[in-house]
Amino acid sequence: MNEPNSARAEAGASGAPDVAGASGASGASGASGVAGVAGVAGVIGVVGAGTMGTGIAQCLAEAGHRVIVVDPEEAALATAPARLRDGIRLARMFRKRPAAVPMDAALDAVTWARRPQELADARFVLECAPERIPLKEKVFRELDEVCPPDAVFATVTSAIPVERLAAHTGRPRRVLGMHFMNPAPLKEAVEVIRGPRTADETLDTALALLAGIGKTGIVVSDAPGFVSNRILMLTINEAATVVQQGTADPATVDRIFQDCFGHTMGPLATGDLIGLDTIVDTLYVLLECTGDERFQPCGKLREMVAEGHVGRKSGHGFHRYGTS
Ligand SMILES: NC(=O)c1ccc[n+]([C@@H]2O[C@H](COP(=O)([O-])OP(=O)(O)OC[C@H]3O[C@@H](n4cnc5c(N)ncnc54)[C@H](O)[C@@H]3O)[C@@H](O)[C@H]2O)c1
Repeated sequence: MNEPNSARAEAGASGAPDVAGASGASGASGASGVAGVAGVAGVIGVVGAGTMGTGIAQCLAEAGHRVIVVDPEEAALATAPARLRDGIRLARMFRKRPAAVPMDAALDAVTWARRPQELADARFVLECAPERIPLKEKVFRELDEVCPPDAVFATVTSAIPVERLAAHTGRPRRVLGMHFMNPAPLKEAVEVIRGPRTADETLDTALALLAGIGKTGIVVSDAPGFVSNRILMLTINEAATVVQQGTADPATVDRIFQDCFGHTMGPLATGDLIGLDTIVDTLYVLLECTGDERFQPCGKLREMVAEGHVGRKSGHGFHRYGTS
């Protein structure tokens, strides 16, 4: 769908937004605006104030960017600032290199909003809405209408092909995937997905933005689940099936991967960290996009999600967390 804004941009497309510029003055109120930020000039938009949206907003704000996070859910917006503060505290305990800005400046750099119209000045938008194809397609149509014609859109989707979302904008050359891992502030690399129509300049802008926040982009081609989740989702689904069939309990399954294979975390603890609701949504996306029955979520996973046992964020998944 071609909105007037972006149709104009694509027609006269000479490139992507400023790369390696200083953080400009347009956009959000209450943001700090630190000069000399590498990667993208101006305000950066984040869509979705959940696990990934808040984590990515933190990465950006701690590197000196001004960020507007949009989420229609009052409940998400009510808890997001505290989650951001906790995330900044945690990152400062674990990160090897110091953050570019003080904690209060990072907190002030993030503005929270309900309407996508607040992203009217955003030069780069990271979409972190739930993993549902129709929902994300709608978000991309809205962004295309409200954002500047030369703004870049990056989806943080776990599995949806970039082209499927780019096709809902009039600027497919300016759309790509940036699959951050969770927790975003503590992970050093990002799987970057180049869609069939993604322009070189768009890729360069995204890689420069990542470099500016201290991360490396690993570029792959567009396919359902890319590299990471095409493999990981099958592993988690199969690990849940092993529990369902009574071959081993969750602690034993994870121990095999940790103690025998030397993995830092087993597949079921990884599922709990990602969120079992997101795992099931992602498996359904993979099933729809590939038609491959191996991606059918197993009964155990579906049951746990129906019971609200979705992992760390609910305090209870394959393992228990906190006081629950
Ligand atoms: N959780 C992970 O480990 C992980 C890792 C990499 C990628 N992802 C992907 O990142 C995306 C977000 O996942 P998450 O784990 O943060 O989910 P989440 O459920 O924690 O957060 C999603 C947020 O989006 C909000 N939302 C709903 N409709 C919206 C709309 N129309 N516009 C804007 N926001 C809307 C919700 O209120 C919620 O706050 C998904 O595509 C997911 O597959 C997740």
